[in-house]
Amino acid sequence: MATILDGRKLKTKILANLKSKIAQMEEKPSLTVILVGNNPASLIYVNNKKRTAEEIGINSNIITYPSSVTEDELLAKIHQLNKDDSVNAILVQLPLPGHISKEKVINMIDPKKDVDGFTPYNFGKLFSGEIPFVYPCTPKGILLLLDEYGIELDGKHAVIVGRSNIVGKPLLQMMLNRNATVSICHSHTKNLADITKTADILVSAVGENIIEEKMLKPGCVVVDVGIFKDAAGRTRGDVDFENVSKIASYISPVPGGVGPMTITSLMLNTVELFEKSKKRL
Ligand code: GUN
Repeated sequence: MATILDGRKLKTKILANLKSKIAQMEEKPSLTVILVGNNPASLIYVNNKKRTAEEIGINSNIITYPSSVTEDELLAKIHQLNKDDSVNAILVQLPLPGHISKEKVINMIDPKKDVDGFTPYNFGKLFSGEIPFVYPCTPKGILLLLDEYGIELDGKHAVIVGRSNIVGKPLLQMMLNRNATVSICHSHTKNLADITKTADILVSAVGENIIEEKMLKPGCVVVDVGIFKDAAGRTRGDVDFENVSKIASYISPVPGGVGPMTITSLMLNTVELFEKSKKRL
């Protein structure tokens, strides 16, 4: 039976340390989240971010817009937040409505306040092997979780299913930085199982229940990034947890695995950006 990669437990441990650190700061870090529209999942995520920030002493602020907001209004707000010294971390919750260019909006964020690490500056730094202001939250959380359980990446074959800018692509580079051999699979990959069977570490970030026991090598480490509701309304991940946990060495559950680690990384990144801004003064 696989050992559970317990994201909730690690979140509690890291945030307790971060809370004590913030308690000793004279000035507090601050996180501003922009939410456009009323996507129910985004609403839950954003409220969780605010609650967690407040629990550990980060000042947080959610700015909401109706989905009818124009791109120009949004860009003007980000410009204003960039100039505001009391704001040290900006997050624009994705997805955005179709009439707004995600690229333009992300490009507008000052890289020094880009708490997701999504701006071309930070993404470019990451991919050129330099150090970005911060690393994207979900990949960072996955690596923190693997490190906590002593799972080595050097020389291992990591297979990532999903090529998003939020997870797959940055994780590829961050695992390469740890000397893993990394493969990315996606919706056009032929014979997916032939590749996933060679994984020492399998990360799935698709949002569909696609990873079955027969696609995996016994003893592999399985990280499930997917989260969605099934037809019966239950929260599910990409992985058939019940059967895969019988053959994997480690497995992250949904919920309680990667999700709490993403939010933990967001808090760590907010504090890192704050500390870097203080050093620049
Ligand atoms: N939507 C889903 N995940 C994320 C994330 O990590 N950051 C942002 N900004 N939006 C998201």
